[in-house]
Amino acid sequence: MRKTLLIAPLLAALAACSQSEPEAPAAADPAAQPPAAPETAPLTPSPTDPAAAVEAGRTASATLAPTEGHQTRGTLQFEAVDGGIRVTGEITGLPGGSEHGFHVHETGDCSAPDATSAGGHFNPASSAHGRVGQGEHHAGDSDNITATAAGIAVVDRRLEGATLGDGAATDILGKGVIVHAKPDDYKTQPTGDAGDRLACGVIEAAQ
Ligand code: CU
Ligand code: ZN
Repeated sequence: MRKTLLIAPLLAALAACSQSEPEAPAAADPAAQPPAAPETAPLTPSPTDPAAAVEAGRTASATLAPTEGHQTRGTLQFEAVDGGIRVTGEITGLPGGSEHGFHVHETGDCSAPDATSAGGHFNPASSAHGRVGQGEHHAGDSDNITATAAGIAVVDRRLEGATLGDGAATDILGKGVIVHAKPDDYKTQPTGDAGDRLACGVIEAAQ
């Protein structure tokens, strides 16, 4: 009888404490909720974290949308490979059997109706414009893409001097991608004389 009288006020005090202070239950019963668990869980990158995915597989993607007055669109995948970046994907809405300049541009901004907001060719090394595998060229330079008679280009191109997801000056993550109206001549500075911009996209970490 005497014990009951002593414990009852204690329980009442704990109950009151629980109601007035939200953190009281954890403090009152440490065994039920290990303090370390809630602290460490958010710090461990989950497999679906985009940043972790880029770090692990070094992949990214871009969705190309048409500029004003054009119908060119597509999806691209970027993968870090030995010495550069492999770009694959499919682009539709091109004139049949045509050849088109295709580059990574310095700004991931497709907001302008003609996509001039994407800036010039991505060029972290301040190089001259040129052709991949044939001397000096921009990190964003790529060989032209070619459309079938149906206006579809299956893309498999390579960038050299570019990296993916490493945060270096050469990192193409967040940069723009442009499909041009004309072929790149690999000579004219600094654009390759590839003409208007038919489609624009932003390189983003693969989900
Ligand atoms: Cu370009
Ligand atoms: Zn260039």
